[in-house]
Amino acid sequence: MVGPGALGRVFAARLAAVVPTALVARSRERAAELGGGFELVHPSGRSERVRVPVFGPEEAPPARWAVVLVKGPDTEAAARVAGGLAREGVLSLQNGWVRERLRGAVGAELPADQGATTAAAKREGGRTVWVVAGETWLPENFRPLAELLNRAGLPAEATPAVAARRLEKLAVNLVVNPLTAVLNVPNGALLEPELWTTVRDLTLEMHPVLRGRGLELEAEDLLQRVRRVLVATAANTSSMRADVRAGRPTEIEEITGVLLAWGRAEGRALPRHEALYRMVRTLEQVHRGEPLEE
Ligand SMILES: NC(=O)c1ccc[n+]([C@@H]2O[C@H](COP(=O)([O-])OP(=O)(O)OC[C@H]3O[C@@H](n4cnc5c(N)ncnc54)[C@H](OP(=O)(O)O)[C@@H]3O)[C@@H](O)[C@H]2O)c1
Repeated sequence: MVGPGALGRVFAARLAAVVPTALVARSRERAAELGGGFELVHPSGRSERVRVPVFGPEEAPPARWAVVLVKGPDTEAAARVAGGLAREGVLSLQNGWVRERLRGAVGAELPADQGATTAAAKREGGRTVWVVAGETWLPENFRPLAELLNRAGLPAEATPAVAARRLEKLAVNLVVNPLTAVLNVPNGALLEPELWTTVRDLTLEMHPVLRGRGLELEAEDLLQRVRRVLVATAANTSSMRADVRAGRPTEIEEITGVLLAWGRAEGRALPRHEALYRMVRTLEQVHRGEPLEE
């Protein structure tokens, strides 16, 4: 598991029960900090102390599979490490769209692809809180890894439908993440009538581009999907909102940046998403304490 963050720890903790599993940190020093284990709070509220071997990138042992679970801006560095370790394939379960960057960093000799997951976890102080087991979809050539995830209690399926699932996840993130980050509100606030209008406008604006890339949902069905996610996660803070508040880089490039590039490639303007993209970029700068250019 390359990336010992919130989700990487959950996946590693579960997989370690059924197959030898290790976490790979960005450096030997970061690995040493995690070497004593961590507290994992399960969705049931049960808490346990977990010890999974943690390595720096140079010391990590070879593996059948490597799973990349770093934030978007760290994709290339983590994927290069993953590609050097894995014998059968490299899977990303990151948010946003990183397929091409992942493949570029891993190289053509090894299968490398992106799945999608609705599993959720967060770090709270020293604890790792596993919020929901969710579902995970993998490309078909990752079937043995899907079987391991299932045995580990992480519902997973290797399916050709992964292409649609990836786009559905991206679509929801395209609306929820930047909007909650800019407004600094929990997800459920977007259901308020005056904000729902913006959710609707953003969804309708991006729909033709995502449809052209293989999204199977019609616009109204996508809107209903967004609504269901907002209802189910009403009290949650989106990862982009959390990143902005903590002054960390966001995944705006992997989410909205990719949509804008797809729009440009077909000559389609996406003014609402473009505006949100710029707002998040500016917020990142402000929170980093960087002066804003004229
Ligand atoms: N958390 C969720 O609920 C959730 C759900 C679905 C999808 N995702 C996606 O999964 C990905 C990871 O999310 P997360 O919430 O687990 O993030 P996170 O808690 O920020 O963890 C990322 C981890 O990656 C490490 N890292 C950075 N560069 C690395 C490198 N080159 N090699 C090895 N490790 C490296 C970071 O280490 P440092 O601390 O040293 O920076 C950190 O431990 C993101 O794309 C996210 O959108 C998350």
